[in-house]
Amino acid sequence: MAISFDNRVAIVTGAGGGLGRAYALELARRGARVVVNDLGGARDGTGHSDAALAVVAEIEAAGGEAMSNGGSVTDYDQMVAMVAAAKARWGRIDILINNAGVLRDRSFAKMEPEDFRFVIDVHLNGSANCTKAVWDTMREQNYGRILMTASSTGLFGNFGQANYGAAKLGLAGLTKTLHLEGAKYGIKVNTIAPVAGTRMTEDIFPEAAFAAFAPENVAPAALFLVSEDAPTNMIVGAGAGVVQAAYVTLTQGARLVEATPESVAAQWSEIIDRKGEIVPNSGAEQTMLIMSKLQ
Ligand code: NAI
Repeated sequence: MAISFDNRVAIVTGAGGGLGRAYALELARRGARVVVNDLGGARDGTGHSDAALAVVAEIEAAGGEAMSNGGSVTDYDQMVAMVAAAKARWGRIDILINNAGVLRDRSFAKMEPEDFRFVIDVHLNGSANCTKAVWDTMREQNYGRILMTASSTGLFGNFGQANYGAAKLGLAGLTKTLHLEGAKYGIKVNTIAPVAGTRMTEDIFPEAAFAAFAPENVAPAALFLVSEDAPTNMIVGAGAGVVQAAYVTLTQGARLVEATPESVAAQWSEIIDRKGEIVPNSGAEQTMLIMSKLQ
């Protein structure tokens, strides 16, 4: 069945270019009214421009409805004002895609604390700011779809991206608690780990790969994850039309013969054995698994 966003109101942060723009255009094409947020800075987060306005113009030219917002996700008050403006015009907020991001790559040895703090602030605190700004509205509506943007760096690591990776895995962690808190209010929360040829990856993608890795090839997964029938608490990788699921798993582990580090060493292969590993749905399930071993 066709997935429609008719009568839905969506906010996409960092939608002045790259992936956010592709999400905003496709949401609007499928009927959503879209807030296009973007500070319009450089890749490292400095400066600002009217990037969001051009995407709004594109949506309107195609017959869709959109409004621009030039606020920074790092400023909670600006995000509250953005939500208020969207509600004043359209009455509700159904979808939030936390997509805004910056890069300040350096090996950890050379990374300044300020570059660590700034990258965490934009990705992690920025997503928390926007989510907090829509949370009460979504609870009151008994409906909400929130998508966080992680990265393979956050899930698996990447040389030179300690700040970025920490922020990105933090977003998967935020998803894992918010999906629990949102469940009874019809709020579903997921994480996407995209792979796309944008200005963020222009130094690492060969020219030839750019077309296959177009942001438009990530948008289908993102849109499914904010659709009415979306799953919740999923971490989904998407790039070049390939869609994957990533899991945080827990092995069955071992009950130590003796409570000593030597026992841990002796039983290490049993501890890390992946046979029978589970994907806990909450932190409490780890405690339950431990309890079951004691019985
Ligand atoms: P991009 O640089 O084209 O998009 C990021 C957008 O966020 C920019 O338009 C920028 O102006 C905006 N932005 C930055 N700081 C902001 C702030 N404080 N407030 C509002 N807007 C702000 O790069 P791309 O690739 O489209 O990235 C989108 C998201 O996807 C980012 O979160 C990025 O970390 C993530 N990602 C991208 C991957 C890729 O392969 N392109 C891989 C993994 C994650």
